[in-house]
Amino acid sequence: MAIRKIVFVPDEVLRRKAKKVTAFDADFQTLVDDMIETMRDAPGVGLAAPQVGESLRLVVVEYGEDEEDDAPKKLYVLANPEFIQHSEETEDGIEACLSVPGLAGEVSRWKRVMLKAQNRRGQLVKIKADGWLARVFQHEIDHLDGIIFTDRAVKIWQPSPGEVDLLRD
Ligand code: NI
Repeated sequence: MAIRKIVFVPDEVLRRKAKKVTAFDADFQTLVDDMIETMRDAPGVGLAAPQVGESLRLVVVEYGEDEEDDAPKKLYVLANPEFIQHSEETEDGIEACLSVPGLAGEVSRWKRVMLKAQNRRGQLVKIKADGWLARVFQHEIDHLDGIIFTDRAVKIWQPSPGEVDLLRD
């Protein structure tokens, strides 16, 4: 495993529509492992392949329901993720992004989502998420379509140190 270099705006790879994952081969497994390591090192709660310069529809997310307790975090590796259902209801929340250093923004997201994707072996999975996790998935899947949270933000600001602990992906 290796830590990959995170790319920042205005790198054009962040603005491209990423390509479908079609090969779940050894190179793909290496990319998945590297992205997990890069996300943990950053640290971030999620990372999309374009953020390490690979224009592929692949995201990794690692999420714990409660940061304070010792319950293990759940790791998601999602290839070709697609929302298949979402709530009408939206929720405003604060986001930041590893590829957009020094900015935070308030973004409205669907409150609940259901998505389908393939896991790292190419098997179909369906995932339901709400609240924070639903937000992280929406932020990551946006990266696959060249969308950055600042495109959707109703308000953008430069947070004071510590304020961006809220969401970094
Ligand atoms: Ni991001």
